[in-house]
Amino acid sequence: MPRRGARRSTASFTSTRHLVRAMLLLMTGAVALGAAASAYAQQSMLDPKGPNAQRIANLSWLLIGLGTIVFVVVMAFVLIAVFRQRRDDGTEDEAPGGQRFIVGGVLASVAILTIVLVGTFWTLAVLADDEPSGIAIHVVGHQFWWEVRYPDYGVVTANEIHIPVGEPVRLTMTSTDVIHSFWVPELTGKLDLNPNDTNVLTLQADQAGTYRGQCAEFCGLQHALMAFHVVAETPDEFAAWMTRQAQPAAEPSNEIIVRGQEVFLSAACVYCHRVGGTNAEANVGPDLTHFASRQYIAAGTIENNRGNLAGWIVDPQAIKPGNLMPGIDLPPEDLQALLSYLESLE
Ligand code: CUA
Repeated sequence: MPRRGARRSTASFTSTRHLVRAMLLLMTGAVALGAAASAYAQQSMLDPKGPNAQRIANLSWLLIGLGTIVFVVVMAFVLIAVFRQRRDDGTEDEAPGGQRFIVGGVLASVAILTIVLVGTFWTLAVLADDEPSGIAIHVVGHQFWWEVRYPDYGVVTANEIHIPVGEPVRLTMTSTDVIHSFWVPELTGKLDLNPNDTNVLTLQADQAGTYRGQCAEFCGLQHALMAFHVVAETPDEFAAWMTRQAQPAAEPSNEIIVRGQEVFLSAACVYCHRVGGTNAEANVGPDLTHFASRQYIAAGTIENNRGNLAGWIVDPQAIKPGNLMPGIDLPPEDLQALLSYLESLE
């Protein structure tokens, strides 16, 4: 009998150590996840920069707070149970107040879930109450990029949405192919872009800056590389940007750029792209009228610079496999001229 008791005690000691170790691992994991999330804070919904994002962040903190309290209380009970078992060493006492614990547990669960439910419905109701107003922007989802139109100004661009800071803008959104989802975590909650349907969303940034957003609905091979940027700027900067964007493309200003324009207009580029003021009028791919004014190529995938652009034109499938752009095979001097032309489209 004593031997059996001793063995049991060792076993229970080992399992306690395992349990404590597992709990420590779990907590370390949670802290590591949190640290990773804040390191990537350029897309953090817990760092709101607009009124709707603030409401969603408040709800998130409520959930995180309640979750933390539940975690701590449950772990405390687990530890109490574990150590009580060790001390009792084999004898099974009836737990004191067992009935009360069960009733208390059920009541606490109901109360917590009710708070979560009310908080969620209240936030949803406030967000749904939002009357979209302000400048109209039409966003069209494509596999795998974003077409951005300002119908009141006749401006078309891609993957970069400029808005005036502190003002709501009204996004109407649809898709040409599959379902995409528009999400800028720091500015607002996500909303789907559906084919044959239009959804409306208010976007507002209360601080100037560039906010990264991305597609939040799996839409095919390059879903993960379907990003975009919202640039919130002062009303003056926004007006200046809009004035530039509303103009036709810059006329070639030197021989190389003239050559580059010829290359562009005689190559396959014109089957998909538009450059305002030229014969290139297709709208399968992004509008390139003011291509050089944008910070990124291929929907936030790579920075817009000459080297990246050359790589993208020659072999876009290596950079973003499954996108719709075919590689363009050009003699080196034609490629250089084409790069100079595209860089001139400011
Ligand atoms: Cu578009 Cu995912």
